[in-house]
Amino acid sequence: MKLHTRRWLHLVPIAAAAAVGFVTLTSSASEGASPYSAQSTNDLGADLFAKQCSSCHGLDGLGVEDRGPTLEHEGRAAADFVLRTGRMPLAAPNIQAKSGPVRFTEEEIVALVDHVGSLGAGPDIPNVDITNADIGDGGAVFRLNCAACHVASGAGTAIGGSHRAPSLAKATPTEVGEAILVGPGAMPVFSSLTDDDINNVAAYIKNLQEQGTTDALHFGGAGPAAEGLAAWLLALIPLIAITRWIGRPNPGRDHPVATTPSGTVSNDSEPDPDDH
Ligand code: HEC
Ligand code: HEC
Repeated sequence: MKLHTRRWLHLVPIAAAAAVGFVTLTSSASEGASPYSAQSTNDLGADLFAKQCSSCHGLDGLGVEDRGPTLEHEGRAAADFVLRTGRMPLAAPNIQAKSGPVRFTEEEIVALVDHVGSLGAGPDIPNVDITNADIGDGGAVFRLNCAACHVASGAGTAIGGSHRAPSLAKATPTEVGEAILVGPGAMPVFSSLTDDDINNVAAYIKNLQEQGTTDALHFGGAGPAAEGLAAWLLALIPLIAITRWIGRPNPGRDHPVATTPSGTVSNDSEPDPDDH
């Protein structure tokens, strides 16, 4: 029995070597002919693009008049941004894209991002790292570049032309970096911001999210003017209450004035028992 096992054992290295050789041979063969995994990713991306995106962006991704813009130079950053925030596919061509439920699996997102990235030169997905970021500097970047539209709290507001700068409550650091590089919709591209600026402002936005200001109560997003008016009204209520309280007659101080038949003025409204 023992002898039998040992005789098989010395075959193990040979079998292992054969297996390694086989795998090496087959993989190098497939590398030369067709990189199967990359091909399948492109197929998946192209297929999904044809079904879900081409009605507005065209089969070639170069856009369709009055439906969707060319994606030639949008790059992987824009594709990753619109897919991970659930912006695309858009329900109708003439509405503002906004974040919503993600419509694709991780594998499908990667495939679509690669497909859009292959259409032409555009920004790649930024590597945003907030671990050593400077939140103070990020706050300065935010107030200078972002607060005009997203407001100081990051809660967002209407910015005119029926556009809306959304709340930054759900934006991940990568999405912040992508938005800065891509300038989605009515947002401008901020090409002057360095990688450090992006890391810092992403950390600052994370900090706003943790403080809960990004989803702070704001008056239906009616805009800064309406919010200012609402703040004034809120401040006026206690002022009016205080004024009324001060102006109220005080029984101890302000006696009711009564005129007696004799014409003399008396503060005493009670009939005097001694006065007959
Ligand atoms: C001129 C106004 C404007 C300015 C300035 C601006 N944004 Fe935006 N931002 C927008 C609009 C509009 C959108 C929505 C885009 C769309 O329609 O898809 C947006 C979207 C975003 C989003 C996506 C939010 C989400 O989850 O839906 C992020 C993140 C963002 N902006 C970050 C920034 C940062 C960071 C800055 C400053 C560096 C900035 N924005 C400056 C108008 C602006
Ligand atoms: C119903 C039409 C429609 C469909 C379907 C659609 N898009 Fe779009 N897409 C638009 C319009 C319009 C814009 C430009 C306006 C905007 O960004 O809000 C746009 C913008 C984009 C952008 C650029 C983002 C920016 O603002 O810079 C990307 C990237 C994109 N789409 C990818 C896709 C992908 C990927 C799909 C399929 C999963 C898709 N779209 C499906 C209409 C559509």
